[in-house]
Amino acid sequence: MSMEMKKVEEEPEAINDEARNISKRLLNKLEAERRYIARELHDEIGQALTALKISLQSLQRINDPEQLSKRLNDLIAMLDRVLNQVRNMSLNLRPSLIDDLGLTPTIRWYVDMISATTGIDIELSMVGMDSRFELETEIACFRVIQEAVNNAIRHAKADKIEIKLEKNMDNIQLSIFDNGCGFDVGRAMEYAKKGKSFGLIAMKERVELTGGKIEISSAYDKGTFIRASFPINRS
Ligand SMILES: Nc1ncnc2c1ncn2[C@@H]1O[C@H](COP(=O)(O)OP(=O)(O)O)[C@@H](O)[C@H]1O
Ligand SMILES: [Mg+2]
Repeated sequence: MSMEMKKVEEEPEAINDEARNISKRLLNKLEAERRYIARELHDEIGQALTALKISLQSLQRINDPEQLSKRLNDLIAMLDRVLNQVRNMSLNLRPSLIDDLGLTPTIRWYVDMISATTGIDIELSMVGMDSRFELETEIACFRVIQEAVNNAIRHAKADKIEIKLEKNMDNIQLSIFDNGCGFDVGRAMEYAKKGKSFGLIAMKERVELTGGKIEISSAYDKGTFIRASFPINRS
């Protein structure tokens, strides 16, 4: 009886540990995102608005209407860039596009935005992807792409990324390839489980929560290949 009792006692402990680990990682991730937003607001948006204010003040001293009109046009262009930055920031955090128009237009927007801001060549192919899917599936799929592309830029130093999506009878197949430096996936996962990083784990958890599967393979100097499948049309 005592052995039985012990076993019963041990299990919830292990589950609690796991749950505590996950919530710790989630909180870390939340803090990291807030730090990112704070920095972005301060460094990017704050800077741009300060520059705009100074430029506006200098307009007060201009009498020549022609010069004034030229400077005003410059300022409007500057303001447009800030507006774009705010829009991209907000879309990155939670693309309203995904709620309104779905996965395909969101991915198109994202890929265009990343190519335009980084100059990286992203090849996108989508087959049979015109319909809408369950919102959770669409969000999971988009977040996997976002994380993979972020990693390819930040860590892999890739100059080429290929994203393919294909709708089958009962799933969406996603594959993402980058031609960057590659990494040791097993080691990165071990490291991540200790709470050191969250991206790859969150990717895996998101896919698995939709009932899907993910495989990450990578080789030094050859690049990284991620394949994920998301079930659809479940009854
Ligand atoms: N596409 C990639 N190319 C090269 N290294 C990668 C790639 N994706 C992930 N890594 C490596 O795996 C580590 C863990 O990635 P991740 O869990 O996304 O955390 P983070 O991006 O916050 O560092 C990264 O720090 C990096 O060393
Ligand atoms: Mg990452």
